[in-house]
Amino acid sequence: MADGARVICRSDELDEAGQGVRFEVEFRGERASAFVVRYEGHPHAYLNRCSHVAMELDWQPGAFFDLERRDLICSTHGAAYSASSGKCRGGPCAGRPLIKLAVEDRDGFIVLKETSNG
Ligand code: FES
Repeated sequence: MADGARVICRSDELDEAGQGVRFEVEFRGERASAFVVRYEGHPHAYLNRCSHVAMELDWQPGAFFDLERRDLICSTHGAAYSASSGKCRGGPCAGRPLIKLAVEDRDGFIVLKETSNG
């Protein structure tokens, strides 16, 4: 894409509070696992890295939501994160959020707008 954005997947691959799509990004000079889910109608993407210990969250590839399909849950020790903001909602994350990535729905695709190298 001309603006440096990158297609992650088709928009219709993301069901509301359903299976996420994993992808890789460059973050602080290294390849890192990331994922995108749909929640409240919008795509939300994060590094796939728990703020408690740097473990991937999904308990099976692409499975990020808790049983109520409300929060993102870390499969290792159960930290819960807001699906829309990445803020810690309880458990071992102890107030530390996920690292959010900028994505949008564009012309039928989920597009990564930029990768934070912060
Ligand atoms: S590594 Fe995620 S809760 Fe501990």
